[in-house]
Amino acid sequence: MAKHQHQPQPKTNNSCSKFVFIVTFACLVGLACIINLASSFSLYNTYLSFTSNWVSHKPPFVVVPKAGEEPNISYKTGDGVLKRKKGHTSDSKRVLSATFADLPAPDLPWEQMPSAPVPRLDGSSIQIGNLFYVISGYGSLDYVHSHVDVFNFSDNTWCARIEAPKYMANSHLGVASDGRFIYVVSGQYGPQCRGPTSVTYVLDTQTREWLDFPPLPAPRQVTLIPILVKYMIFHDTALSTLGFSVKDGKALEKDWQPMIQIPRGGPHRACVVANDRLFVIGGQEGDFMAKPGSPIFKCSRRNEVVYEDVYMLEGEMKEWKVLPPMPKPNSHIECSWVIVNNSIIITGGTTEKHPVNNRMILVGEVFQFHLDSLTWSVIGKLPYRAKTTLAAFWDGYLYFTSGQRDRGPDNPQPMKVVGEMWRAKINV
Ligand SMILES: *[C@@H]1O[C@H](CO)[C@@H](O)[C@H](O)[C@H]1NC(C)=O
Ligand SMILES: *[C@@H]1O[C@H](CO)[C@@H](O)[C@H](O)[C@H]1NC(C)=O
Ligand SMILES: *[C@@H]1O[C@H](CO)[C@@H](O)[C@H](O)[C@H]1NC(C)=O
Repeated sequence: MAKHQHQPQPKTNNSCSKFVFIVTFACLVGLACIINLASSFSLYNTYLSFTSNWVSHKPPFVVVPKAGEEPNISYKTGDGVLKRKKGHTSDSKRVLSATFADLPAPDLPWEQMPSAPVPRLDGSSIQIGNLFYVISGYGSLDYVHSHVDVFNFSDNTWCARIEAPKYMANSHLGVASDGRFIYVVSGQYGPQCRGPTSVTYVLDTQTREWLDFPPLPAPRQVTLIPILVKYMIFHDTALSTLGFSVKDGKALEKDWQPMIQIPRGGPHRACVVANDRLFVIGGQEGDFMAKPGSPIFKCSRRNEVVYEDVYMLEGEMKEWKVLPPMPKPNSHIECSWVIVNNSIIITGGTTEKHPVNNRMILVGEVFQFHLDSLTWSVIGKLPYRAKTTLAAFWDGYLYFTSGQRDRGPDNPQPMKVVGEMWRAKINV
């Protein structure tokens, strides 16, 4: 029998009725961020062709000459050949990092399942047993969802819709679960790049009712929350971390408590609790922010650095350990992971921006981190590259839905926001 688990693992919760989450915030406090270029959304409707298979094994950009050689970088993308900008003659002498290129990866037998009722970007998700709770997110830059869609793995249907509280965040929500209650901490309230909220709610998945919970001390862009051992923890730019002991949907303490600082702040990381250890994987510093003075909080892109770093907290939670890095820098993976057979599996994400044209580059690989040997491998590729995918595991199948996919096999830039659901049998 395959041992499998997801964010809410009643199994890993052992006898402890208390549990802990950790919440991480964006570095740029106060400003939310969507990942997506406005232009990507405007192209949304014109994007028709659907590629169910990602055929190209060749990196879409040709890179890295030996030292001293003319790089002869190919600028070919799905848009055609990009012109080299004037005044960028130094490009030809730069040695480019290849981290934005696709890694070789085997095919997985993907099959398409019923799409979610709505496309969503930067939503969050929690799996509890055979039910998959897919929470809010952007429909487009100007429209955000305020409900939860529920997928039933037993009959592969989207079986319920739960309206969210009016003031709950709409995207970038920090989520954690103990197997019955889903805690939704902070996140961004409203469309475009509006600011974060401090409100926290708890969904009782048995009654499908929302309960109140003490808010954060200040509005923060929570980007990852994890999970459970004994407290709920979060941290922000300043690397400070707060925790909360909770039980049965209720706070056991009066307020958020200071916890150990995290080595690096920043949004869009995966934060995974497995075997009573907390793993913080990838993520970035810098993100989309509201354009100063914009009445609609129009998103504008900031400089971003994407990380491959992996940190672990265990035992008395007194010290972060540095673990082997991911095969490439990876961000936008908050809910893109599952735990299968004592390993963490991560689907998609974004990596370093393209070094020449600065475009955001999506990730199409499926990564596996072995919790016994603490090593990484690439076990497959998605049907397309995608970021902020929401992943689940049920009955031998790896599932993912939602997020923003690429422009096609030869162009890893973000394009369409999707609600598609896919699954593939895996053997890991
Ligand atoms: C770049 O192109 C020039 C001429 O087109 C060729 O001589 C050189 O070997 C090429 N360099 C590399 C690294 O491919
Ligand atoms: C999920 O599907 C199974 C099989 O059809 C059904 O027995 C179960 O009641 C469903 N659960 C929900 C919550 O709809
Ligand atoms: C997990 O490991 C068991 C034992 O090696 C194996 O039978 C099973 O197929 C694995 N499950 C998956 C999903 O790979």
